[in-house]
Amino acid sequence: MALQISATNPEHPALLLDLPWDIPLEEWPEHHLVPLPRGISRHVVRYARAGTEVVAVKELAERPALREYELLRGLDRLNIPSVDPLAVVTGRTDKAGDPLESVLITRHLGGSMPYRSMFETTMRPATMHRLMDALAVLLVRLHLAGFAWGDCSLSNTLFRRDAGAYAAYLVDAETGEVHPQLSPGQREYDLDLARVNISGELLDLEASGALHPSVDPIEFGMEICKRYDGLWRELTRTSVYPAGKHHYIDRRIRRLNELGFDVAEMQIAHSSNGDTVTFVPKVVDAGHHQRQLLRLTGLDTEENQARRLLNDLESWMATQDDYAPGDPLAARPEVLAHRWVRDVFRPTVRAIPLDLRGSMDPAELYHELLEHRWYLSERSQHDIDLDTVVRDYVTNILPGMRDSLSPPAGGGTNAQAGGTTATGEGA
Ligand SMILES: Nc1ncnc2c1ncn2[C@@H]1O[C@H](COP(=O)(O)OP(=O)(O)OP(=O)(O)O)[C@@H](O)[C@H]1O
Ligand SMILES: [Mg+2]
Repeated sequence: MALQISATNPEHPALLLDLPWDIPLEEWPEHHLVPLPRGISRHVVRYARAGTEVVAVKELAERPALREYELLRGLDRLNIPSVDPLAVVTGRTDKAGDPLESVLITRHLGGSMPYRSMFETTMRPATMHRLMDALAVLLVRLHLAGFAWGDCSLSNTLFRRDAGAYAAYLVDAETGEVHPQLSPGQREYDLDLARVNISGELLDLEASGALHPSVDPIEFGMEICKRYDGLWRELTRTSVYPAGKHHYIDRRIRRLNELGFDVAEMQIAHSSNGDTVTFVPKVVDAGHHQRQLLRLTGLDTEENQARRLLNDLESWMATQDDYAPGDPLAARPEVLAHRWVRDVFRPTVRAIPLDLRGSMDPAELYHELLEHRWYLSERSQHDIDLDTVVRDYVTNILPGMRDSLSPPAGGGTNAQAGGTTATGEGA
């Protein structure tokens, strides 16, 4: 059986060929590896360098590797936040010619942290609530797309900062199943698994003394159900309005957009006596603001960041002389948006020295600056310009900031980094 690399991008196999496929992943030499924190897993997982990319390599049997690869590709096509599948390597043999397990390769999700590392310093309950919000949004998005996760847990999720909140990414799709649509029973079952898994993970943290004393692991597990149910109801409920109050429908659509969801279709029906109107939206995947910002500016950000940046972009546009919505002779929004990126967004972000940015990407940094501008303006009761904000931020905020999400500095050691892969706990 010959070594075979199946990849999503034709350029990847060449880069991946340099990795030592004839050595079991556990024994890979240090110089191939990147010491970033990893979550708990049954399989051996390592981060390795492939060209300019950092990739996550997971060793598992051929069939599940191919299956997970296909599932991740499916999620990618559906625009669901999950790790990007890059390749599957099969037909590995060691130097003696004995077979080795296949591997699944995904792109390392930059700026993300496994929850265990986030809990290394006891996490405030408010932060835990925000993680649950993010996880509930992810689960709802998966369910709307007909994907039953089968093993939703904190260790199968990666969290990234998103404008002061978090965005959750699916990292382990092995148990997933795709259906045209999920029944209430299927969704309930999936949610129940999430609850049990999360409570178990929090009990583990409690046992190791890393849980805030006010958090009850069992009760906190219910949190995911509460948040999921609330969001699902808001997205899918039927609303009944008095006839002639069509703006109620607009209001509902706007609220759904604010939650980050789009309405693909809607059913509107009048009651037989004509007094009331029922409205059922068919809600589709989130990413409304994300797509709009990407279309306008080419910036690819998280949803909350996109909403924030779009607000700033829109208020900036309104100050431009050639801004006149609806006027065919005025500048197109794309043109104005590019000007904003060139004259406002980029120079502002670049004014923050690289070594002070920690793990914050440009969009998160810009969001932080907007927050700081708001704070300074409120305090002084008048508008503060961005240059002043940047100066104040660099002098007064950045030095004192503990960057809880930043990966260890290059080559630094970390308890979980080059360490062992715990066994059993994820099963
Ligand atoms: N692309 C990636 N980017 C960042 N981290 C990753 C990536 N892929 C895997 N990891 C890390 O490796 C850990 C284990 O991966 P994964 O959950 O896929 O392994 P597993 O053995 O299938 O887990 P389980 O025990 O749940 O079956 C994750 O929790 C995550 O921390
Ligand atoms: Mg896992």
